[in-house]
Amino acid sequence: MLPRTIEWDDERNVIKMVDQTLLPARLEVLECGDVDSLIKAIKEMKIRGAPALGVAGAFGVALATFNANSFEDVEEAARKLSTARPTAVNLSYGVSRAMQRVRAAKSLEEARRAALEEAKKMAEEDVATNRKIGEYGANLLEDDDNVLTICNAGKLACVDYGTALGVVRAAVEKGKRIRVFACETRPLNQGSRLTAFELLEDGIPVTLITDSMSGFVMQRRLVSKVIVGADRVVSDGFFNKIGTYSLAVLAKHHNIPFYVAAPLSSFDLEKRSGEVEIEIRSADELKFFCGVQIAPLDVDVYNPAFDFTPHELVTAFITEKGIFTPEELLELKRR
Ligand code: MRU
Repeated sequence: MLPRTIEWDDERNVIKMVDQTLLPARLEVLECGDVDSLIKAIKEMKIRGAPALGVAGAFGVALATFNANSFEDVEEAARKLSTARPTAVNLSYGVSRAMQRVRAAKSLEEARRAALEEAKKMAEEDVATNRKIGEYGANLLEDDDNVLTICNAGKLACVDYGTALGVVRAAVEKGKRIRVFACETRPLNQGSRLTAFELLEDGIPVTLITDSMSGFVMQRRLVSKVIVGADRVVSDGFFNKIGTYSLAVLAKHHNIPFYVAAPLSSFDLEKRSGEVEIEIRSADELKFFCGVQIAPLDVDVYNPAFDFTPHELVTAFITEKGIFTPEELLELKRR
């Protein structure tokens, strides 16, 4: 069984995380004992997924307090950490939550205790939040629904249980028969490597498709709902793994409900889409596959890790506080 995606080792004061680059072939736990190695792990996607990044940010601040000689050292580490990946709001949210506790502390000793306490609290909140999202979302699923998803918005993207896949898990726990259609999610294959893996681990039926098959499976009514996660929900739409926007357009065309399952910590409704940086990743991710060259080395490459889907394509957001249409969400914000 998968351990928690990320946790703190109290004996050694290091972060332990499942190395997601090795899955599904090997399940190995990686240890990070300093902020630089954590930043490297984040950039290399050893840990990924918005909620898991949030918790990594908070534990990273705790780690910084253990290694720092001054508060300025912690501030510097926090700055580097919060921008390690720019699109998911959770990373900077996790860093700033732990930093608030650090800034209120009178000594580094106190800062250590406070930052670690906050990070552990965030980790527990993540699990409870996902269970709530699952509880609400499960009501939207009917027996024999086939759910299309992209990337991995499961336990591996969180501390445990998952958001989009948490909804599926909760429906299955209620006795509903659900099958997931998982887009493989090029170029880094979070769908085939992680979503397929964790669902099979739990005995939940899953069918793997390439990203380009999603239109056809909708046309053939092989899927009845789409549920995805979110890296950041803003006032005019949301950001998620590249390919999400295409699924939303296709779902609208085929009249298939399109849901976004996300904790409120992924909501940044003060911002509009134009203000959010979309991470552009290395060209090598498209030129090589598992170390094998699959494109001319001198070809130009465009490799955005995320795309933007406007609210008009979203049926509803599934959160830990309930299910909201985009209009209801914006109304809540105005209140
Ligand atoms: O690049 P990744 O793997 O970090 O992208 C992850 C996603 O796009 C997820 O769908 C999102 O973070 C939500 S996870 C609950």
